[in-house]
Amino acid sequence: MVPELASRAHELNIVPVVSEAVSRAGLRNSDITAIAFTRGPGLLGSLLVGTSFAKTLGLALDVPTVMVNHLQGHVLANFVRQEGVPVNEPSFPYLCLLVSGGNSQIVRVDDPLHFEILGQTIDDAVGEAFDKCSKMMGLGYPGGPIIDRLAAQGDPTRFKFAKPHIPGLDYSFSGIKTSLLYFVRDEMAKDPDFMENNKEDICASFQKALIDILMDKLIKAAAQTGIREITIGGGVSANSGLRDRLVAEGRRRGWNTYLPQFKFTTDNAAMIAIAGYYHYLAGERAPLDVAPVSRASDF
Ligand code: KG4
Repeated sequence: MVPELASRAHELNIVPVVSEAVSRAGLRNSDITAIAFTRGPGLLGSLLVGTSFAKTLGLALDVPTVMVNHLQGHVLANFVRQEGVPVNEPSFPYLCLLVSGGNSQIVRVDDPLHFEILGQTIDDAVGEAFDKCSKMMGLGYPGGPIIDRLAAQGDPTRFKFAKPHIPGLDYSFSGIKTSLLYFVRDEMAKDPDFMENNKEDICASFQKALIDILMDKLIKAAAQTGIREITIGGGVSANSGLRDRLVAEGRRRGWNTYLPQFKFTTDNAAMIAIAGYYHYLAGERAPLDVAPVSRASDF
């Protein structure tokens, strides 16, 4: 991702995309009562385009704007409703395993406006581990979907990778990345075709190791809080191994599990709209001088 190119693409596309979204929804601009926008965290250049556009459109249509934390959008993705799709919403409080290219967190959600991060990664996000390891193995980018597809044809018990020992509910994914790097390097020194001949088993074993790490802490968080309503969100929540494992673990432990629809797992505007809707109902309005923030801690 080149930040400069991403922000130029936002500038080029934001007007046609919003116009098309409004017309596909069968609405006119005069039907819009409020505009939700992502304040952050994310790439600052792209956020600046979105924030400025939302403020300008709000002024032009004379409607309020509401700012949303991108991560809260992921956490609330299950609340997006669609005609003809059964409602699949957790009750409060619930836990959300939020896993993306930038974050790996366990979030406690007490209501649509109140969240607490119980644990998070101290180094790489799990999506980064998928992406960087896929690149290292020469498989391509983004790595998550590629590893997911190859893993489905492999044996997850064939190879073992070192698990981190991090106290509490925090995660770490940099060690397992190094473990895979050394493993592949050593095996390739013995057999140059090792990667090509074993990529399905490597992907399946590596993916299983990542899911084990994610699930161990989620199980611990559920035990510590006594919460049995469990959701997942973020780009990595599209992973078929993680989705299957969550459902299986939920059956075993008496959890109610909720999987977001695939189209609401990676970044999307519908989840920002639903988060914005709750802030709007609570009477929150974005001041005209609000600036975007790139880091979650600055929100
Ligand atoms: O939430 P997202 O769209 O963007 C942010 O990080 O904000 O997540 C992107 C991440 C990438 O790391 C990508 O490799 C990962 O989600 N991803 C997956 C899958 N689909 C996307 N990871 C594992 N399995 C997948 N099927």
